[in-house]
Amino acid sequence: MERIVISGGKPLYGEVTVSGAKNAAVAIIPGVVLCDEPCRIENIPNISDVSLIANILRDMGAMVRRVDKNTLDIDPRPINTYEATEEGVRKMRASYYLLGALLGRFHKAKVALPGGCNFGVRPIDQHLKGFQLMGAKNELINGAIIDLDASASFHGARIYFDTVSVGSTINVMLAAVKAEGQTIIENAAKEPHIVDLANFLNSMGANIRGAGTDVIKIRGVEYLHGVTYSIIPDQIEAGTYMAAAAATRGKITVRNITPKHLESISSKLREMGCEIDEYDEAVIVDATKRPLNRVNIKTMPHPGFPTDCQPQFVALLTTVKGTSIVNESVWDNRYQYVSELVRMGANISVEGRLAIIEGGTLTAAPVKATDLRAGAAMLIAGLVAEGTTSISNISYIERGYSDVVTKFQALGADIKKIYIPDPDAVATTA
Ligand code: EPZ
Repeated sequence: MERIVISGGKPLYGEVTVSGAKNAAVAIIPGVVLCDEPCRIENIPNISDVSLIANILRDMGAMVRRVDKNTLDIDPRPINTYEATEEGVRKMRASYYLLGALLGRFHKAKVALPGGCNFGVRPIDQHLKGFQLMGAKNELINGAIIDLDASASFHGARIYFDTVSVGSTINVMLAAVKAEGQTIIENAAKEPHIVDLANFLNSMGANIRGAGTDVIKIRGVEYLHGVTYSIIPDQIEAGTYMAAAAATRGKITVRNITPKHLESISSKLREMGCEIDEYDEAVIVDATKRPLNRVNIKTMPHPGFPTDCQPQFVALLTTVKGTSIVNESVWDNRYQYVSELVRMGANISVEGRLAIIEGGTLTAAPVKATDLRAGAAMLIAGLVAEGTTSISNISYIERGYSDVVTKFQALGADIKKIYIPDPDAVATTA
């Protein structure tokens, strides 16, 4: 069992460099399946979700070579199956991007239902609606595998999404790149990683217009050529370090970022009383100048405040005097971690989609990461709380944060990863 142990109570100071965006990487890597030549993907984050998706491609026959910590060479030409049903596929949400990518390449796809962080029901009806309109019949096999078949006719379509969905937008974009004719996605999601995926696909010769707006038009092409492509910086990782600096009342420089992607986060921190200085590829967060104010937050699809920074900001708001109200409007059930913060002395009550936070003092405690961003909230709370906080279930954190312990150490945090032998394993060998 591995844990992260933090002796909190020290403000963060210094510089941190943000890695490539997880949610772009886990869409772009399956996107390579559509390419007719090898590709090199740079600025890949060093996280377990990337290793998982790379292994899934390998299992399907792709040649995947890690050139260095942040670069992958992928030759998708040897892939000769439209099936991805191994156990690994169920371990991550983004493996469902193989539905769109395999459908685009083979006009058929058979993919295990995805896993990922548990925020209650995570339907994929909009993905399937898009594929159906493009000619694919779909069947759910044994409640566990989605079988898509567009071999009779695979074509562009006009698709209006009933809800703004990142995954559905990406999946239909992937499928449409090589479909005959034009696909129009209406009510599309606008997240930076959707624009990044479109830029990647266009650099290979795809014809996608409008990514980053709510109407995306894709005209199918026959051939995609190999490219070298560098993934955008991780907006959520940046937001996490910014929240941590504010929570510890420190001052940090966050490098390798795109300030435009951070507007909702920067403006919320400004509203709280932090000083935010933006540069071309860096931002300075200074929370040392004045006491911070309570604020309200409502999560929204981009360009609204990102749901993936909600837990980190709840952790921050537990340190700010007064009552703050957070409204989680994207996911039904993204407050499982609140009980862990309460173990650290936080005063938070949850009513449906609202979290009502009375700021106060946090005290160290043993806590667990209940999902990826929940784990980030535990890190922030641990950095603030006097005493030693120990966090378990850290594999969730490692799914999405590159080198998180060394990055916080470089900011002056007293944090380390420790290994605790499993008591059951000892008993068996004894
Ligand atoms: C992506 O998940 C991200 N994951 C999530 O980040 C993020 O929280 C989410 O987008 C919202 O920004 C990846 O990019 C791998 P959605 P996704 O489809 O695509 C409903 C993280 O921490 N919906 O935009 O699964 C759904 O229930 C992860 O990095 C339908 O109703 O999210 C939700 O309420 C966690 N039908 C809303 O739309 C559908 O067919 C948004 O979901 C699809 C979605």
